[in-house]
Amino acid sequence: MAPGVGFPARRMRRLRRTPALRRLVAETRLSVDDLVAPLFVRESIDEARPIASLPGHFQHTVASALEETKRLVGLGVPAVALFGVPAEKDDVGSGAWDPEGVVQRALRALRDTFAGEVVLVADLCLDEYTEHGHCGVLAPDGTVDNDATLELYARVALAQAEAGADVVAPSGMMDGQVSAVRRALDGGGHDQVAVLAYAAKFASGLYGPFRDAVDVRIAGGGDRRGYQEDPANRREALAEVALDVAEGADIIMVKPAVTYLDVIADVRRAVDVPVAAYHVSGEYAMIKAAGANGWIDDAAVGLEQLVAVKRAGADFVLTYFAAEVAEALGG
Ligand code: PBG
Repeated sequence: MAPGVGFPARRMRRLRRTPALRRLVAETRLSVDDLVAPLFVRESIDEARPIASLPGHFQHTVASALEETKRLVGLGVPAVALFGVPAEKDDVGSGAWDPEGVVQRALRALRDTFAGEVVLVADLCLDEYTEHGHCGVLAPDGTVDNDATLELYARVALAQAEAGADVVAPSGMMDGQVSAVRRALDGGGHDQVAVLAYAAKFASGLYGPFRDAVDVRIAGGGDRRGYQEDPANRREALAEVALDVAEGADIIMVKPAVTYLDVIADVRRAVDVPVAAYHVSGEYAMIKAAGANGWIDDAAVGLEQLVAVKRAGADFVLTYFAAEVAEALGG
């Protein structure tokens, strides 16, 4: 008997004895079905270019994005999320809704090739397409003009739906973005296209490698604190989520993931729609960088973090580990 414990002591180690016992009593299970793989497609390049700060990830051509998606489908990954890198940027981000824009071309190719075999999620934002790198159009005072931006998001939603997106994912944190997008989709005959709302998206320092991947630099050393959430605020995340659900979001997302496990848990309790989490570029890059130095086992830490995100309550996770974890899970 353990010292100081009365009989019959509960012996916690009995159920940890063998891998099979541990599998049997696991409270949280990570499966390939939980994974969404982010993919970057870049206009006007002849071959895929590696992204230094996201080892294993590339700025893809449309052709290499098709190849990568084929590999992911083969591994059993159910969804990909597309981000575009245009050849030219302008002050309103018109490449985002151009029918010949790089994401629209990739969506059409993916739809024609995979026809429903994989869910096509399109990130819906302007920052990759604007010269100033903000997620919307600027007012004369240099702040992002909320309602003028909503009109442009409506155009992007239609262009993405017409090109074959199953799910559009507004990520700019404008007020009213979900209803603007929902209205545009319904008005354009796309009532079957779902909206995944980046609902509680925080102004995080963890998006750096992503901004490398999409060639975004915010003008004048600026930041997104005027529209993304303050990391200090937990209740406010619930308010954001409630608004997005009321506006018609089919799925809501918390982002980043591991730094916001409390928010994921709160949100899971508060709503009955699916809850996604985005394990973001900086979360991946930190693990990979420490792994490359031999300081941690990056594969093990990646799995541990994704399990933590699910344990907190996420139904699925956008993650740069998608392919690697799908392989490890034997998909
Ligand atoms: C905005 C967007 C960003 C990410 C996803 N959508 C960047 C930002 O808000 O600056 C970041 C994702 C990541 O870091 O992996 N289009």
